[in-house]
Amino acid sequence: REKQRLLVVANRLPVSATRKGESSWALELSAGGVRQFETRWIGWPGVNVQDDKGQKSLSSALEEKGFIPVFLDEETVDQYYNGYCNNVLWPLFHYIGLQQEDRLAATRSLQSQFSAYKRANRLFAEVVLSQYQDGDVVWCHDYHLMFLPKFLKEANSRMKLGWFLHTPFPSSEIYRTLPLRSELLKAVLTADLIGFHTYDYARHFVSACTRILGLEGTPEGVEDQGKLTRVAAFPIGIDSERFIKALETDMVRSHIQKLRGRFAGRKVMLGVDRLDMIKGIPQKLLAFEKFLEESPEWQDKVLLVQIAVPTRTDVHEYQRLTSQVHEIVGRINGRFGTLGTVPIHHLDRSLEFHELCALYAITDVLLVTSLRDGMNLVSYEYVACQNTKKGVLILSEFAGAAQSLGAGAILINPWNISEVAASIEDALTMKEVERKERHRHNFMHVTTHTAQVWADTFVSELNDTIVEAELRT
Ligand code: UDP
Ligand code: G6P
Repeated sequence: REKQRLLVVANRLPVSATRKGESSWALELSAGGVRQFETRWIGWPGVNVQDDKGQKSLSSALEEKGFIPVFLDEETVDQYYNGYCNNVLWPLFHYIGLQQEDRLAATRSLQSQFSAYKRANRLFAEVVLSQYQDGDVVWCHDYHLMFLPKFLKEANSRMKLGWFLHTPFPSSEIYRTLPLRSELLKAVLTADLIGFHTYDYARHFVSACTRILGLEGTPEGVEDQGKLTRVAAFPIGIDSERFIKALETDMVRSHIQKLRGRFAGRKVMLGVDRLDMIKGIPQKLLAFEKFLEESPEWQDKVLLVQIAVPTRTDVHEYQRLTSQVHEIVGRINGRFGTLGTVPIHHLDRSLEFHELCALYAITDVLLVTSLRDGMNLVSYEYVACQNTKKGVLILSEFAGAAQSLGAGAILINPWNISEVAASIEDALTMKEVERKERHRHNFMHVTTHTAQVWADTFVSELNDTIVEAELRT
């Protein structure tokens, strides 16, 4: 039997494209397919290409990889991606309050950003429809594409359609402050299956539907005049094999050797985050500072490596965060640095995959202080790379991952910097038996609940949901 076709639609294609000439492109891929299915990816290539030659040549380079681009012009990117997605939905879904003046400014531009959001969702829908064949499963992803299920179902009511949210879904008390809250909910409810990382997010979504739309919530999902939209939790995972295998390569080994030499004699703590408000980077730095203050004996024996990947740099809040973080890092390094060393190595850039694996592998403690985080895959990747060292994971209770790695990690409230400082001390001094036991638990989870399993489970649930709906009518 032929494999079922799966169209995966997300704002961003899992690829980074760099233009090398008028018609030539360098592509760097960052995700694999889903084995059981013939997968095609549809999304924005992340670059602005306005000329015909550029669009055609990029399309054909991507085509070979099973990627289909949705081209967005600069104005749309600004209004839809920077504006509505990342300045309105993202902060709201993560319980982040914007500064008063930004919130007011956002309110004024809301209508035009919302129109751009819908317009962008239409463009995605057109590309999906141009690729769609009877029997395909269409899987829409994330907060960027909440209108997509509606536009697709309007064009073809028989399409098998799932939508998955990679962020938290906030309490309905927060969600209901969003102007146009009903339109968005109604649009996603046209999907056959709606997925979240955790049961809590799913429950929040169902309450929003019952309170704002007056629909009926059932254990299965949301019901509107006898029609059920199935809602459930599908916690994502990583491709753990990819990390475990990478550790065996010469490339990672030589990085490991170099890093060990550089950090010899000191314990290494690590943070890896996009430079985003939700990651609690200032909170993490303040907690580390408090630890150094209270434990002078550790001052020349520990360092924090913070990889802060630049992200959404056109959005004002992100620019403000960047300067805030730089200021705190400067202050702490000024305060505790010596002529030879500084306590914080802060990098404003991303690392290449092998370098990142090496860093995960040599680190004694990973510090995840997210104020809210849909899942947090960095914590999973760290666990996958720690089978030799058995380092300690300090994990925010506000990351989705706390629900799966909670038994092996030290859970913290990132707002309580005294608690975080104490956990740093506990982690650095933890006995090997305890580290082994905690790691064993997490490693087992990470290597069994993989991205592959996640995708398979979601798509088979979607197929089942449709069969059940047909039986009911
Ligand atoms: N990452 C990366 N390069 C880096 C640092 C991180 O590609 O230099 C990746 C990391 O491996 C992980 C992702 O970025 O897969 C971050 O995912 P996570 O779920 O932790 O947070 P998000 O960025 O999605 O909020
Ligand atoms: C989060 C979102 C993703 C997004 C990623 C990177 O994980 O859930 O949809 O792709 O952040 O953000 P960016 O804005 O660079 O795509």
